[in-house]
Amino acid sequence: MAKKRIGILTGGGDCPGLNAVIRAVTKHAIGTYGWDVVGVEDGFQGLYEKRFQPLSLNSVRGLLARGGTILGSSNRANPFRYPCKLEGGGEEIRDVSEEVLHTLKDLDLEALVAVGGDGTMMMAQGLIERGARIVGVPKTIDNDLACTDYTFGFQTAVEIATEALDRLHTTAESHDRAILCEVMGRYAGWIAMTAGLSGGADVILIPEIPYRLERVVEAIQERKAKGITFSIVVVAEGAHPRGEAAAVVRKADPTQQEKLGGAADRLARELIHHIGEHDVRVTVLGHVQRGGTPSAFDRLLGTRYGVAAVDLVAQGRLGHLVGVRGNEICAVPIKDACGRLKLVEPDGELARVARQTGVELGA
Ligand code: F6P
Repeated sequence: MAKKRIGILTGGGDCPGLNAVIRAVTKHAIGTYGWDVVGVEDGFQGLYEKRFQPLSLNSVRGLLARGGTILGSSNRANPFRYPCKLEGGGEEIRDVSEEVLHTLKDLDLEALVAVGGDGTMMMAQGLIERGARIVGVPKTIDNDLACTDYTFGFQTAVEIATEALDRLHTTAESHDRAILCEVMGRYAGWIAMTAGLSGGADVILIPEIPYRLERVVEAIQERKAKGITFSIVVVAEGAHPRGEAAAVVRKADPTQQEKLGGAADRLARELIHHIGEHDVRVTVLGHVQRGGTPSAFDRLLGTRYGVAAVDLVAQGRLGHLVGVRGNEICAVPIKDACGRLKLVEPDGELARVARQTGVELGA
């Protein structure tokens, strides 16, 4: 009898801990079940272009500490709205899901483990509804997926942002400045709130709580009145003033989401009218939050997710996505997990902790 085989792909933006998942899936599938493992390169793009690599115990050795994904990823390869290159230049958006489903059939997989965020899970669900055998593993530094308490990658991003805030404190203090630090997170303020609280920010602005400029100015001036001449303001990239939309650097198109950016610059342009140009500086952390070595927490969570995903395949629980509730691994149908964002509650525990420790949230 032919050996059973599973596939794995990583889709969407990368994040620390992806390689821990690839390693765990490979080790568990080969070591426990005696299956073969095939890696799909660059997410759904590799599935369409038929680019695969066999994964062995050797090929996943030493991966735990490595950031990124050894399989590569793609942000734009949606099988249902695929950007196909045209011969004379340019591209045409086509539905290539039929070709992708054929390729999956030819690969003869027990299941494909799709590691990704909400976008990847929506694509997976579309393929599942047409017969594909897929299980999901949730990833994103934004921690905004409703199916799980934690996505891996988030904790590493928070560590990086917290260290940045520590560093910004000393220079802000030396020069009597308000430093605005913009962090990622898309429409959720988890990174901003968590790193802001851990890094002792004075003001934390998140998308879930549209801010008023006066509150930010007052917070900085109140500190000055007390003789504290510097302030640290954490600005989530999706944070926006009341009545205004989030700052965007690229609009959505049929193949990709809009790209946020410029939230801290926008606030700085307003702030300088109140506290002076010399006193305001902006640091945008950007992709530093996504790169490099995963934290121990994310290596462990990625490993647990990888093992749980392989077990789902062994149990025949296809169409499910692994997650964690409390400290227990769980699984939910991918269709129930798609399109539901988990946001910071404006009056939830974290927001209360912030207010009760004197952090201004801008409302
Ligand atoms: O979803 C993860 C994330 O890093 C967001 O926090 C951020 O808005 C976005 O991806 C950046 O995307 P890109 O890597 O395409 O610039």
